[in-house]
Amino acid sequence: MKKVLFYQKNTPKNQLKLWDLKLKKWYQDFKLIHLDDPRASQALIALLWKAPMEKISKLKNLKAIISLGQGVDHIINDVNFSEDISVYRIVDPYMAKSMSHWVVLSILNYIRDYEGYRTQQINKIYKSRQNLDFNKIKVGIYGIGEIGKVVARDLNSLSFDVLGWSRSQKKSNFYSSFYNREGFNYMIENCDIHICLLPLTNDTKNIFNKDVFSKMKNGVCFINAGRGQHVVENHLISFCGNKINLAILDVFEIEPLPKNHPFWKNKNIIIWPHVAAETNVETAAEQVAKAIKLIHSGKVPVNKIDLNLGY
Ligand code: NDP
Ligand code: OXD
Repeated sequence: MKKVLFYQKNTPKNQLKLWDLKLKKWYQDFKLIHLDDPRASQALIALLWKAPMEKISKLKNLKAIISLGQGVDHIINDVNFSEDISVYRIVDPYMAKSMSHWVVLSILNYIRDYEGYRTQQINKIYKSRQNLDFNKIKVGIYGIGEIGKVVARDLNSLSFDVLGWSRSQKKSNFYSSFYNREGFNYMIENCDIHICLLPLTNDTKNIFNKDVFSKMKNGVCFINAGRGQHVVENHLISFCGNKINLAILDVFEIEPLPKNHPFWKNKNIIIWPHVAAETNVETAAEQVAKAIKLIHSGKVPVNKIDLNLGY
């Protein structure tokens, strides 16, 4: 029986059994084994989330890796990754919708001052607080791919003016498309809410830094659910409370966020523990099983990563 390797960091031990059960509904001709299994070196395919890549690089029969998330930086940005291996990823509409819910929740809380009302409740204060006028808010989404475009459509349906930045120019009824450095700068200078949903590549690492923050309007909201390394963290914190009214962060340079990190105590920062859009075994299993089956039969599944672009 062909062996398929499994490793998913920070999940309970029985997660392998759950994946096995859900995958087998769609394809049965393989045995799912853990990276620590002595037969690991026999595997042609690995299903991975934040695996120790130095161990993976020693598996000489490995031909393909399927990311158990939408991002692949945890695989291909690692120094131990070899470009001889093909990489595929999950693209799950459930995850895109889940991210959209999180972004909508964050933005509505921000513009309706949810935190302010909760504080008033503690102090038994019964009075209106200032709303931000949604008709006047421009929301910039950096990375308008499988996730960003769903977020854009949902924000548009809530009457926000949405601008989307990508590498290539797009046509959409839900957002205005911007691309290249000029488009990026336009969005940075004109948006009231900035949302990073980019993949982490050589081109996007540290893209939000002091030069960029200093060009933003005063009093903006900055949301990051891409990757922590998109942001120079000590630059961000120096703009919080002046240019940046509120930063809502789901991802960090080091995860879990260290206990002594200054973000924890900053009243202009809201911290989420990388949960904006978690992988859902129920909805992702079918495509992962089909990808395994295709690779086993020498075919190329969808959602193959372009290793030159890095996403
Ligand atoms: P996609 O690959 O579908 O989309 C990426 C988007 O970024 C595309 O629009 C692409 O442009 C754009 N892009 C990439 N590089 C550049 C660049 N150099 N300049 C301008 N635009 C660029 O990714 P997904 O939407 O599936 O996911 C995006 C990221 O979200 C993931 O990589 C991951 O880091 C993060 N994520 C976070 C989660 C969380 O819970 N916090 C959950 C899931 C994902 P183009 O369209 O022209 O190719
Ligand atoms: C992902 C993530 O990339 O959860 O899927 O961050």
